Amino acid sequence: MRTRLTDLLGVEHPVMLAGMGGVAYSALTAAVCEAGGFGCLGASTMSTGQLRDEIALTRSATARPFGVDLLTAFADTLVAQTEIALEGGARALVAGLGVPSRVVDLCHRHDVLVVSLCGKVEHARRAIDAGCDLVVAQGTEAGGHTGAVATMVLVPLVVDAVDGRVPVVAAGGVADGRGLAAALALGADGVWVGTRFIATPEARALPGYHERILAAAEDATVVSRAFTGKTMRVLRNATTERYEKDPSALRPFPEQLGVALGEGTFHLGGDETTTGVDPEREGYPAGQVVGAIDEVVPAARIVADMVREAEAILARLGA
Ligand SMILES: Cc1cc2nc3c(=O)[nH]c(=O)nc-3n(C[C@H](O)[C@H](O)[C@H](O)COP(=O)(O)O)c2cc1C
Repeated sequence: MRTRLTDLLGVEHPVMLAGMGGVAYSALTAAVCEAGGFGCLGASTMSTGQLRDEIALTRSATARPFGVDLLTAFADTLVAQTEIALEGGARALVAGLGVPSRVVDLCHRHDVLVVSLCGKVEHARRAIDAGCDLVVAQGTEAGGHTGAVATMVLVPLVVDAVDGRVPVVAAGGVADGRGLAAALALGADGVWVGTRFIATPEARALPGYHERILAAAEDATVVSRAFTGKTMRVLRNATTERYEKDPSALRPFPEQLGVALGEGTFHLGGDETTTGVDPEREGYPAGQVVGAIDEVVPAARIVADMVREAEAILARLGA
């Protein structure tokens, strides 16, 4: 399925794997690349050494273009991690939690695209002014750090504001071909998919994560500051409820992250062998679309089904 996005990224399908911290490591990234999508390493939970290793593993598993996702808010490591991504041959540097203005020129000197995650029209305007090559309009439905505006409202607003200068990618609540077709109908050039890819055998996952995702209904998530101090959509549990009852106990970002690590309620970056994870207390980022996920499915099948289904829908609507 060809769009402006596939041309820019050099991939077959307009499906991007969200660079989910703690989840999108080399196995998942390479699987999405090999399926014709654009895989993106979630590097926010990686040390510099780990990022180097994960890039090497990705490159040994696929020759296709891939991206690296960082968090602008972690200003101390942004430049160092970006340099590793550039050395490693990433095609795109993706940044959440703020426009990555400090690294735009550096990336462009290496012919690497810069992508910014935006939860508001104003963020998209700032991203373009800073020279970003692509914006992801991420609705509040999304898992992980998220804003307050829904995907259905945000995407067309960002498309209008961007006015064709760069491609726009829709994120938040996309799990199948209906979501991809809807995103294209809203004027987006592709989709950025997170939560659906957690329930894959290739995803890195803490104990209890898959089980909780499969069991969750669409109203099982909540936007909470409990795990980092910033608004993050996670599966509701005893920890989110405790802070909901007593928000005065919350510390600002990033202090609350230290509190969560100390309390043993946030192990993102660990894997299925991590000990001390209590699902009733753990911060499991997830979007509202968990309600539509009831099976662990290989990443390649998710990409193939999504594209096939979207093409059928668009053909039917066109007819
Ligand atoms: C487990 C998880 C971790 C995430 N970590 C990051 C991150 O480190 N950096 C980032 O830019 N976005 C992160 N996000 C947000 C995703 O990039 C993406 O915007 C979101 O998952 C899309 O919505 P969906 O979950 O409904 O597909 C994360 C999301 C999840 C579910």
